[in-house]
Amino acid sequence: MSVRNILLVISLILSVVIGAAIARGKGGGAEQSADHGTKKIKIGLSLDTLKEARWQGDRDRFVAKAKSLGAEVLVQSASGNDADQMTQCQSLIANRVDVLVIVPHDGRLMAKAVEEAHKEGIPVIAYDRLITGVDLDLYVTFDNVEVGRQQARFLVEKMGGKGTIVRVLGAPTDNNAKLFKQGQDEILDPLIKSGAITIAHEDWAEDWSPINAKKIVTAAITKGVAFQGLLASADGVAGGAIQALTEEKLTGIIVTGQDAELAACQKIVDGSQTMTIYKPLHLLANGAAEMAVKLAQGRPVVATATVNNGTVDVPSVLYRVLTVHKDNLCETVIADGFQPFEEVYRSVPESQRPLKPTVVKP
Ligand code: GAL
Repeated sequence: MSVRNILLVISLILSVVIGAAIARGKGGGAEQSADHGTKKIKIGLSLDTLKEARWQGDRDRFVAKAKSLGAEVLVQSASGNDADQMTQCQSLIANRVDVLVIVPHDGRLMAKAVEEAHKEGIPVIAYDRLITGVDLDLYVTFDNVEVGRQQARFLVEKMGGKGTIVRVLGAPTDNNAKLFKQGQDEILDPLIKSGAITIAHEDWAEDWSPINAKKIVTAAITKGVAFQGLLASADGVAGGAIQALTEEKLTGIIVTGQDAELAACQKIVDGSQTMTIYKPLHLLANGAAEMAVKLAQGRPVVATATVNNGTVDVPSVLYRVLTVHKDNLCETVIADGFQPFEEVYRSVPESQRPLKPTVVKP
């Protein structure tokens, strides 16, 4: 048997083992109820925020998929307020949802919501962002460390392997922000050690807020150090960072992002942002909705990895991510139906636009 085949068999065995482990989870749910088979599954979806375009996309896709599977979704958004998110989770639990899906604002604080759900026999899925310090049922996300690697690799390449960077990290309460940093550091650390790259200034943007990101970049500019790269961890904070650059009339700086939001794609076209990371939200949202329904029914879910959350190895599913820049916008986000061609190239006269690709809606 070739090494590849051996690896495939091992990963298959692992998937089955993890799948079985989830099936033994808190369960409860629709299948164990008296009206088994007839009861409509109720999913609670608790979101940190809907202020960023990305999360509206997650909600819409998740709800549509769950509906197509015959489930009902009760959606709550906490607008970045931890106390509100806790109360909303409690009300979803009191509403006797069969499964709770949480995008935590604070991954550590939401452990309490998981514990309360478990007391009522409700399984919990952490969606996109990990909930730490608790016995969590499932984690469905993207390869977040790889996001950071791709951002830093792109930036360093565009900078010709050397120069000075300003870094805008994400929200310190979001475990993903740490994973993005971890991936970025993997690429940057050796270059910093060799003296090729310098980080002139960096800070965490509380709540992933563009206003906070702008403040960080303004502080960097005030230091008076010239920089060629702006390593922003997501499109929202990149937007704030770009505002600071524009106000200070700084041009030619390479700016990273993440989420392939429409505004970011348009900035890539006009040159004020250089790259973003495309996270195919349909994979995450559809996958999570399918798994939520299965967990609610007490059916096994096949996880393909585990992620340690400080308390347990959480059965997890990690979807792939893709670097997007001006030369592959068409073949990635546009061809995938993620962003509309006409909107992305709105600022470009029709005669100067690239050829519109065939759009294959997933
Ligand atoms: C992260 C998420 C990113 C980005 C960011 C800001 O947790 O993975 O895609 O949206 O939050 O909301």
